[in-house]
Amino acid sequence: MGAPDYSIPGSVAPRPASEAVSDAAPQSVAGAARTVAAVLAESQVEAVLDELERDLVGLAPVKQRIRDIAALLVIDKLRMNLGLQAETPSLHMSFTGNPGTGKTTVALRMAEILHRLGYVRKGHLVAVTRDDLVGQYIGHTAPKTREVLKKAMGGVLFIDEAYYLYRPENERDYGQEAIEILLQVMENQRDDLVVILAGYKDRMDTFFKSNPGMSSRIAHHLDFPNYSVDELQQIAQRMLAQRHYHFGAGADAVFRDYLERRIRQPHFANARSVRNALDRARLRQASRLFAERERELSQDDLTTLLPADLLGSRVFADTQP
Ligand SMILES: Nc1ncnc2c1ncn2[C@@H]1O[C@H](COP(=O)(O)OP(=O)(O)OP(=O)(O)O)[C@@H](O)[C@H]1O
Ligand SMILES: [Mg+2]
Repeated sequence: MGAPDYSIPGSVAPRPASEAVSDAAPQSVAGAARTVAAVLAESQVEAVLDELERDLVGLAPVKQRIRDIAALLVIDKLRMNLGLQAETPSLHMSFTGNPGTGKTTVALRMAEILHRLGYVRKGHLVAVTRDDLVGQYIGHTAPKTREVLKKAMGGVLFIDEAYYLYRPENERDYGQEAIEILLQVMENQRDDLVVILAGYKDRMDTFFKSNPGMSSRIAHHLDFPNYSVDELQQIAQRMLAQRHYHFGAGADAVFRDYLERRIRQPHFANARSVRNALDRARLRQASRLFAERERELSQDDLTTLLPADLLGSRVFADTQP
């Protein structure tokens, strides 16, 4: 039949398992570690795990899964060092959850973990959607997809709303071509590229049901829960602190009220909505201060968001029955 070769030039060529064994032989430099502590010390991967724990609010199940995956990778490394395992484990993942639940943020950390443990050469993340992979005309999709894959080699390819690649209603949709190329590269070049498919859980489940080839290549499924109002409030505090702002007297309670209303409205996007709300509050604060031409503005004036800066939101206007 002669399947087309979609391997990406400039990347590490797929190797037969027998060669991979000799690569991981004990005498090789990177293969010396015999203890978990040695792998951890050599890779500095714990620093990334601790950062993840510290910087991200909530997400307990996601953080636990990432620790489990890191443990598996460390043990696999020790197994490879003893020649017990020849092949790189499949590391492709799916990150499902609603918008703004931290999928992209966690994917960046994942890329760093994979890099530190030596599972990818560079550890960068290339984030794409259907439009970056699929062309409009016949013959455009393969070169587009290959170009993206080439950029992502040595790192992580993050495909947002991956299910848009598959449009069963359109028999001649070019998305199918992109899927086929991805499948081949995910299999043959998995020692140099990790693919993360992201999107809403229900749509991803449907996508996997219709694309068993894709489903079978995904080793880890991580589900990102929505944040509670308390978590969103904490996320807001961190975002403000990072930018040298804080809530003034009463603003904390107003923001909680804002969140309770906003969460019930359409297009609510978790932490992304928090970020947007704070950006708009900063605009209102700026207009408020701008109006006071002659007043000398103190550090406190410039860093404080007052209740009025939040109450100007539409969310407080439209919720009357
Ligand atoms: N747990 C968290 N703690 C602190 N900040 C967070 C957390 N989750 C998300 N954020 C912040 O919220 C914003 C949105 O997060 P991110 O882009 O990772 O979400 P996403 O799930 O990829 O969203 P989308 O589906 O809209 O692409 C980012 O600015 C991120 O820093
Ligand atoms: Mg994202």
